[in-house]
Amino acid sequence: MKRILILLSGILLAISCGGNRPEASSCAELLSPDGNLALTFLLDANGSPYYGLSFKGEDVMLPSRLGFTLRGDVKTTETVFKGDVPHEEDAHPSYAFDSGFELVGTETDSFDETWEPVWGEESQIRNHYNELLVHLAQGERLLDIRFRLFDDGLGFRYEFPEGGKLHHFVIKDEVTAFNCAGDWTAWWIPGDYDTQEYEYGCCRLSEIPQHFDEQVCGNSSQTLFSRRGIQTSLQMKTDSGLYVNIHEAALVDYPCMHLYADGHCLKAWLTPDAQGWKGRLQTPAKTPWRTIQVAESAEKQLSSRLVLNLNDPCAYEDVSWIHPVKYMGVWWEMIAGKGSWDYTSAPSVKIDEFDYASAEPHGRHSANNANVRRYIDFASENGFDALLVEGWNIGWEEWANCDKDYVFDFQTPYPDFDIEALNAYAHSKGIKLIMHHETSSAVRNYERHMEAAYNLMNKYGYDAVKSGYVGDIVPCGEYHYGQVMINHYLYAVKEAGRHHIMVNAHEAVRPTGLCRTYPNLIGNESARGTEYQAFGGTTPKHVTILPFTRLNGGPMDFTPGIFEQNLKEWCGNETHVNATIANQLGLYLTMYSPLQMAADTPEHYSEFMDAFQFIKDVAVDWQQSRYLYAEPGDYIIAARKAKGTGQWFAGGVTDEQKREFSIALDFLEPGTYEATIYADGPDAHYIDNPQSYTITTKTVTEKDSIDVTMMPGGGFAISFKQCK
Ligand code: NOJ
Ligand code: CA
Repeated sequence: MKRILILLSGILLAISCGGNRPEASSCAELLSPDGNLALTFLLDANGSPYYGLSFKGEDVMLPSRLGFTLRGDVKTTETVFKGDVPHEEDAHPSYAFDSGFELVGTETDSFDETWEPVWGEESQIRNHYNELLVHLAQGERLLDIRFRLFDDGLGFRYEFPEGGKLHHFVIKDEVTAFNCAGDWTAWWIPGDYDTQEYEYGCCRLSEIPQHFDEQVCGNSSQTLFSRRGIQTSLQMKTDSGLYVNIHEAALVDYPCMHLYADGHCLKAWLTPDAQGWKGRLQTPAKTPWRTIQVAESAEKQLSSRLVLNLNDPCAYEDVSWIHPVKYMGVWWEMIAGKGSWDYTSAPSVKIDEFDYASAEPHGRHSANNANVRRYIDFASENGFDALLVEGWNIGWEEWANCDKDYVFDFQTPYPDFDIEALNAYAHSKGIKLIMHHETSSAVRNYERHMEAAYNLMNKYGYDAVKSGYVGDIVPCGEYHYGQVMINHYLYAVKEAGRHHIMVNAHEAVRPTGLCRTYPNLIGNESARGTEYQAFGGTTPKHVTILPFTRLNGGPMDFTPGIFEQNLKEWCGNETHVNATIANQLGLYLTMYSPLQMAADTPEHYSEFMDAFQFIKDVAVDWQQSRYLYAEPGDYIIAARKAKGTGQWFAGGVTDEQKREFSIALDFLEPGTYEATIYADGPDAHYIDNPQSYTITTKTVTEKDSIDVTMMPGGGFAISFKQCK
């Protein structure tokens, strides 16, 4: 057996790869900076690469395959036709790029830096890892695999260097596996090429197929591919109590990765393009990082910044135009069904032909001058930064699922929305309007109008846009998470950057830490957000899982803050919002985002101004964050210190269970504080009594603790003011 001995200041060891591992012809090991995680790389007798991962000697990933199947470029008449029908796959016989490799060499490195995000959960982030770069060759085709091992997990990616025989190539499949060492508990959503708007299932990995259908609900664009298909970020827990999370980082110019659960071996499953292929690359090229986070506690998993660390540093020199935003919106009243985005009831509208000026308005258009002014007044009186207005522009009469290209022009307001006057009015009151670009997934149309649309925003002083991708992608055949769309989402962010515009994209691919490189990507939806509380409801446990999964890649525009749960009485919507008011306050701490909405309406907040005070006070950008108690599916409690003011806040949410915690205040700097505690009332319950809450004040020091009780579907929030 050929062994490679690599020595780099003690981080790499020569090891013997025996036991249940494939017969190794070459083998190397890398340790994390603290020595707890060990990565093994090996090449078996067939020249197939594998990796394995252990934590403190306990297997996490058993030897797991690496590599690809690539599309061959041989085209003959025998293979082009199947019978008389041309057949794309057969026309390109595929070949294995996961075997027949030789180890050409290895390189090692070590890195330790602390960087400062433009916004974030903390003002400084340490990026500390040991690296192993493996050079492989399959004849004249070259493949490098770069491993970075941190104290909180592993990242690895494939790199296709220039110089070999590979120039332009097409991926048929990525062979990467995550061969989990046990049949662990997993919190998962169905694999889907078009949406992540699902609730989470929780079961053993091997049981996913039998529970799959329980998690499937309808969506305006939906492409399930297998009852074994699931999405990342996937949170798991081993029987020994380790928290293991699989995701990807820096998804650029490559399709989004799903997972195929073959028992407890998870296999990469890339999103195909319109022809079924899974990535078109040109050397030099690199894949996104495949990430495996390992934490001894749920709180540590939530504190991991591995995904951000694997992204490139900020691409912008000047970031002075990027800032956190607390906003309200002319939004919930349409989502709940009280008002509407459209202006007329016309049955068929071509926006370049339809005469809106002489059309009969149906009278339910929410983005009208008077209503927008009402929201501006309320947002301004209560210290908000911004107001989102949806439904301001022509085209909403047929906006979704019409397979239509020219849906919107993103420039022409409805007759009752005076864009110039409303912006002037908002600015005079210290409020910025947030632009809305629903694209209806007519992506070519959006790109055609993007420059003009961003110019219009610059002209009127909008500095943030909420974009959206409802419905199937037009041109038809592409998926929301295919390579073409991945490139579109980043193009939109970079173009916005040229215009000093911040982006919050809904229905786009789930984030992979790109906000480190492009911090004008201040939010994404890309999961089941608060809107579903008006579309049939969501179970309380959902918000105790999202921070482990969806938020692992970047912040979510979750849109918390619903105070009126009885939608029926308000607007005839039969759905009940499954959360107490105190739970909605707790979300401002547990669902980190630099973009936070107070999603309910002025009339509802006016009824509960004392509880609304917390939303007014809470910060949205942090110097420090501490996860105090957490368990996916059960509860999360966090304390955070505001950037700039240094003020501390704490908050928590629970699932359907009542839970009691004692919050030690040792995170506070020594001193005396007035704590204002917003808690569930003793009789609060997310179904029967969601509006029962108490507000109490207490003088405390860092040596004290505060006992909190979260009622079913409830939560709490605390603000601390230092006494002079
Ligand atoms: C779905 C988005 O999630 C929601 O926030 C938005 O209001 C609608 N699409 C309309 O664009
Ligand atoms: Ca959505």
